[in-house]
Amino acid sequence: MNPNKALWEKGDFTRIAETMRESGDALVGKLGITKGLKVLDLGCGDGTTAIPAAKRGADVLGVDIAGNLVAAGNKRAKEMGLANCRFQEGDATDMREVEDRSVDRVVSIFGAMFAPKPFEVAKEMVRVLRPGGSITMGNWIPNDPTLVAQILKISSAFTPPPPEGFVSPMTWGVESNVTERFVAAGVPAEKISFERDTFTFNCPGTPAEFVDRFKRYYGPTMNAFDAAEKGGRVADLQGQLEDLFTAQNKSQRKDMTSIPATYLRVTVTP
Ligand SMILES: C[S@@+](CC[C@H](N)C(=O)[O-])C[C@H]1O[C@@H](n2cnc3c(N)ncnc32)[C@H](O)[C@@H]1O
Repeated sequence: MNPNKALWEKGDFTRIAETMRESGDALVGKLGITKGLKVLDLGCGDGTTAIPAAKRGADVLGVDIAGNLVAAGNKRAKEMGLANCRFQEGDATDMREVEDRSVDRVVSIFGAMFAPKPFEVAKEMVRVLRPGGSITMGNWIPNDPTLVAQILKISSAFTPPPPEGFVSPMTWGVESNVTERFVAAGVPAEKISFERDTFTFNCPGTPAEFVDRFKRYYGPTMNAFDAAEKGGRVADLQGQLEDLFTAQNKSQRKDMTSIPATYLRVTVTP
């Protein structure tokens, strides 16, 4: 089995995505998505950004490598009566099912960054775009002090080193790497721009309960707990994550955890 697919099917990302809905909607609101635009949401999960795009009238295709998330996305779209939003399985490194120059917008929020072969991913995003179209990526930033970069950093300290040749997803959060990848796909460097933005996670319950969701449902953290278990270090991992979540929680309410996280928003207009 493709390890990338296995990682994301291992958990149930919906349980994390439920905490990301408000920011997903707010981000889509900034993208000028209007009725009739063809939008490809890559690494769409269960539709945190695909569904808000469809609600604004776009004709949306969500592509994701995880079969369970594709099914969850289609179920959500059906329940909301969004006939203009469909989800299908596919790999960002090779989207042969999507024709050349066929979409107005490619949106990939914390999605394509997790695919291997980043140069192939950039090439595919550019290939499917119509003239005049644009690509928006949201990418976590390596060593950023906010939530997700720190979760991934803590988790990787507990997991065995990746195989040789593995390119860290976090390299998509480095402007020079992003530029190099899109330039290699034929985009002039001046057509690539960057902005820092914030995504806020809102989860009912305490910070420790939010950690529990990551422990039970988020592939990278699940793998870290599996490895920590073998090394007898579960309490250490749990403690580090609980300290992180507690320190970053901005909610004034005891029954709610609210944590903002900084990401790099990339806009490409080839
Ligand atoms: C952190 S989740 C983000 C999901 C969604 N964009 C959101 O914001 O809720 C990462 C997603 O990327 C998907 N993914 C990882 N590698 C992929 C690949 N090679 N091709 C397509 N999707 C991929 C995962 O299955 C997962 O749904």
